[in-house]
Amino acid sequence: MSTGTERLTRAGAGWNAAVGAAVNPSTARGGTLRLVSSADVDSLDPARTYYVWVWLLQRMLNRTLMAYPTDAGPAGLVPVPDLAEGPGQVGDGGRTWTYRLRPGLRYDDGSPITSDDVRNAVQRVFAQDVLPGGPTYLIPLLDDPAHPYPGPYRTDEPLESVRTPDDRTIVFRLRRPFSDFDHLMAQPAAAPVPRRADLGAEYGENPRSSGPYRIAAHRPGRFLHLERNPYWDRAGDPVRPALPDRVELTIGVDVDELDRRLIAGEFDINLEGRGLQHAAQSRVTADGVLRSRTDNPRTSFLHFVSIQPHVPPFDDVHARRAVHYAADKILLQQARGGPVTGGDLTTALFPPRLPAHQALDPYPTGPDLRGDLDAARAELAAAGLPDGFEAVIGTQRGKFRLVADAVAESVARVGIRLTVKELDVASYFSLGAGHPDTIRKHGLGLVVTDWGADFPTEYGFLAPLVDGRQIRRNGGNWNISELDDPRVNDLVDRSLHTTDPTERARHWREIERLVMDHAVILPLVHDKTLHFRNPWVTNVYVHPAFGLYDVQAMGVAPDRAENTENTESTESTDRETTP
Ligand code: ARG
Repeated sequence: MSTGTERLTRAGAGWNAAVGAAVNPSTARGGTLRLVSSADVDSLDPARTYYVWVWLLQRMLNRTLMAYPTDAGPAGLVPVPDLAEGPGQVGDGGRTWTYRLRPGLRYDDGSPITSDDVRNAVQRVFAQDVLPGGPTYLIPLLDDPAHPYPGPYRTDEPLESVRTPDDRTIVFRLRRPFSDFDHLMAQPAAAPVPRRADLGAEYGENPRSSGPYRIAAHRPGRFLHLERNPYWDRAGDPVRPALPDRVELTIGVDVDELDRRLIAGEFDINLEGRGLQHAAQSRVTADGVLRSRTDNPRTSFLHFVSIQPHVPPFDDVHARRAVHYAADKILLQQARGGPVTGGDLTTALFPPRLPAHQALDPYPTGPDLRGDLDAARAELAAAGLPDGFEAVIGTQRGKFRLVADAVAESVARVGIRLTVKELDVASYFSLGAGHPDTIRKHGLGLVVTDWGADFPTEYGFLAPLVDGRQIRRNGGNWNISELDDPRVNDLVDRSLHTTDPTERARHWREIERLVMDHAVILPLVHDKTLHFRNPWVTNVYVHPAFGLYDVQAMGVAPDRAENTENTESTESTDRETTP
């Protein structure tokens, strides 16, 4: 038996082996993990990042009160205490959340981590003028609208709703119950930031570390190197195995070249998680060994078409339902890239990993999923538009454009004539599809869009899309259809008042049924990607909360050098640029 085969056997690897389980489980420490990405990080300031892969990178650099465990199964969706000794102690019917820090925590400069640093992190989220880019869920929960808090750079007054009775205790008094609060305390923005190091907008250039690694060097657009944080306490961290001694991320490699060099073994893992591009996909799929090193997980993004009741004739639910019935699901899936990289077709909203997931198919599109044109025509007749109508579909160039064309081709079969309006890519979610004025200006009855939850709960996944209180009139709006149904809003609130999983799931199933009844969201696919893992990388698994490889769990097997075709340049040469 060749050693190569043996390695694969030991690896227990195979197609999709790192989905729901870890490939190459190991506790062996040492070596350098070599990562690659085509794009640079959005920010190394934990309050300013929104890229999923940077959130995963943040798990190496920063700890939070709570964190998602290193677990490939459903347990990975539930935050566990990280800096905190236990989960938030809930009081006052879900309004008060109290955490206590573990003793002896230190930053990478040896200074102690205190409750005031967590408070400062939370206060920084309010300074959106100085630190834009990250999630803002904490603001409406903690702000007093009568005296809006402007963030720590405009006032020395503290945020009243957060108290630190001692160096290890922090108490949050929310304006309303929020049963998912532990999830917000697991987001990078909740990582402690000491005031003495907090340079505002520049903090990301020299951030403190509370996790197992700290930044050794970052040359924007070129590389980011991490080294061990000597003050991190392994025994006091229940989440992170921290196996490699060093992590080197090469930034700015063109996507096809990246795939080539990754498969050649020059890099261990693509951190960015964009997945293999077309050229590499064909190569890998045709080769049994390479194929056994790929995973095809869901990314946790839902692709869908938003239908706007405030743009006629979609004010009539029958016009909206006509679009649902007329959708050629197979054509739409092909437009996304097919079953492997396009995603799994869906007729409902929640991904299967969420407890409230239910088999829901209110507008069946026939046994071949090509559309039920008779049902579509019946809806048109009910809307008083038996011959169809004209409408505009908003999209952006690239794959979104292909989806818009597929929608147009689908509904043309029942006389709905769509004009495609392409909006700017860079500002699509902020000022284009995400701005209610733009929707009205161009009369965008239909909009091609997607959404990935910021935390893996039903609220995190669906509330931004359907909660009437979350319509953002000034842009960055995800409730594009501007659904504002009191029954939905009320059920959302009820779900936030209870931590009972059965009750919550019941509320969310009801919400999903109501939303589908309104027919304002035409779900297309749960997005999927094809990832490549090299066989010497240990502890490789797709994190269920993020849909990407959990890089902080990974190690490198000692025998990597024999496996690697190109063994040059694994040693660091960047000392001169170390800050
Ligand atoms: N919710 C945002 C979106 O759908 C970001 C999702 C990915 N980022 C994240 N950190 N969850 O575009």
